[in-house]
Formats: sequence, structure tokens, C-alpha cells
Amino acid sequence: MRDIDGHTRVLGLIGDPVEHTGSPAIHNRLAEKLGDNVVYMPFRVGAKRLEEAVDGAYALGIEGLNVTVPHKVEVMQYVRELDDAALEIGAVNTLSRIRGGFRGYNTDFSGFMRELDSVDIQVNGRDVIVLGAGGASKAVMYALKKLGARQTFVLNRSIQKAESFFGGVKDTTILGFEDWRRIPEGKYICIQCTSVGLSPDDNACVIEDEGFYDLVESAVDLIYKPKETAFMKKVASHGGKAYNGLRMLVYQAVTSYEFFMKREVPEEIAEELYNELDS
Ligand code: ATR
Repeated sequence: MRDIDGHTRVLGLIGDPVEHTGSPAIHNRLAEKLGDNVVYMPFRVGAKRLEEAVDGAYALGIEGLNVTVPHKVEVMQYVRELDDAALEIGAVNTLSRIRGGFRGYNTDFSGFMRELDSVDIQVNGRDVIVLGAGGASKAVMYALKKLGARQTFVLNRSIQKAESFFGGVKDTTILGFEDWRRIPEGKYICIQCTSVGLSPDDNACVIEDEGFYDLVESAVDLIYKPKETAFMKKVASHGGKAYNGLRMLVYQAVTSYEFFMKREVPEEIAEELYNELDS
């Protein structure tokens, strides 16, 4: 534990629940590595107190906050400024202190882009299959379009929900999971964004049908617990490359920290942090 003194600055996370979050461990470890006099705390905030919490955090001089479920959309009303990407994605997971309030960012999409880059998955001109249409998929879809994906197929349990999120998006086809055979033959990048397969349901997989995995050349499962999900195992057993979401988690945290502290985090420190968490 670092010494806390009169100069110590405060960062945190607001959400409900917050008990299972890994963010305090990541951010406090980052602060330690960088020698910054700052602590990161979890704050459980109910939906009705969100505005008060944001105003109160500003009044207390809190430097920055991460925002998690269920506040990522609602918090957009309470920021002083909104980053363009966050506005387009429709969700904020990072508040960075500015004069008069906070500026809202989305670092999930940038974390995802940094993960793709670090595992050398090149999206430009490629066709991509996205499994799931929740909050995480919105950030993923934004990143895929930004990176120049050609066509995207979004498969979701609730087609209606997927339509409401991505119905108007160019070169995007929405299907149910059972309709995967309607995807033209070929080799795809596949991003698994549902919560199916998350520990303790390690053996669950959103598409059980083995034939689907012949379409997958490389894949990212946004889940990182367990380290190798049932989805990743299926991709690998059909000759594809599969990565979990731990890099995305680390990079979104690092990017948030950069916004909070208005400083750069050297790539070696991010890599070191990833290796420690991966061990
Ligand atoms: P996140 O913010 O992590 O994306 P979310 O917005 O709750 O979380 O989205 C969860 C995703 O997992 C959704 O795509 C959800 O499907 P629905 O939109 O149909 O609800 C998907 N999901 C969760 N449980 C599922 C299950 N048992 N089978 C299939 N999809 C599931």
C-alpha cells in the first residue's frame, strides 16, 4: 500500500454492483508502476443517485471515474463535454475531470482496437461476424467500422434488439444464431460479445454447431474468465486463432488512466501489466 498524504488524488469506479470489479486492482497497480500519487476506489451508486454522485465527485475534486453497468448510457446526461466516439457509440465508461465538470469518453472501443492491433488481426477490407448485440457490441461495431471492415454479420438471440442497435448500419446483416448458415462461405474474423461462457458457465458456448467454426479464421472472445472459453476452444479446434478479452480489459483501463491523469502510459508498462494479470 502506498502512503496516502495531503497530495493524494482520487480516481474511482461508479456502478451497481461493483463488488466483483477488477478495475481497482488494475488502476492501483498502474499508479504504483508509474509512481503516481493517486488511489482508485470502487463506489456503489444506485441509478437514482447517479447525478448527485457525478456532481459530488466533481465537488470532491475526484480526478476521474470509470462508469459501469447500469450507468454507461444515463451518465451521458451528466457530463460537461462528450467525446465524439462516445456520442456515436452511445455509451460512456470514462469520466475525466475538466473545468466545470467531467468529459465523457468511451475507452472500450479503443481498448478493443489496441487488442486487435497487438494480436495482429487486421480488419481493413475483411468480413466480420459479431456474436451478440449488447453494450460491448456497440463499442466493437464502432471500432470495426472505423478500422474499415467490409461487411458485418451481427448474430443475436433477440433480433429485435440487434435491429434497434444496428438496423441502419451500412453493410450490416442481422441474423439469429440459428441462421448462421445464411452467412456466405468464406473466412471471417469473429468477435464474441455475449456473456455466454463466462465463468462459472465455462462449458457454455453461444453457437454449439461445429460447422459454424469452419467460417472462423481468427477470433476474439471479449470474456477473459476463464482464460480459454468454450468458444475459443472450438475456434482453435477448427484451425482458427482465438484470443480472450484480457488485452481489451487492460488497454481500456490504460486508456482511461491516460485520460484521468492526462499522461501517457508507456507501452512496456501496459505489456507488463497484461503479463502480470495473465499469469
Ligand atoms: P454487455 O454490456 O457485456 O454487452 P449486455 O448489454 O447485457 O452486456 O449484452 C449481453 C449480450 O449477451 C446480449 O447480446 C445478449 O443477448 P440478448 O440481446 O438477446 O439479450 C447476450 N446473451 C446473454 N445471455 C445469453 C444467452 N443465454 N444466450 C444467448 N445470448 C445471450
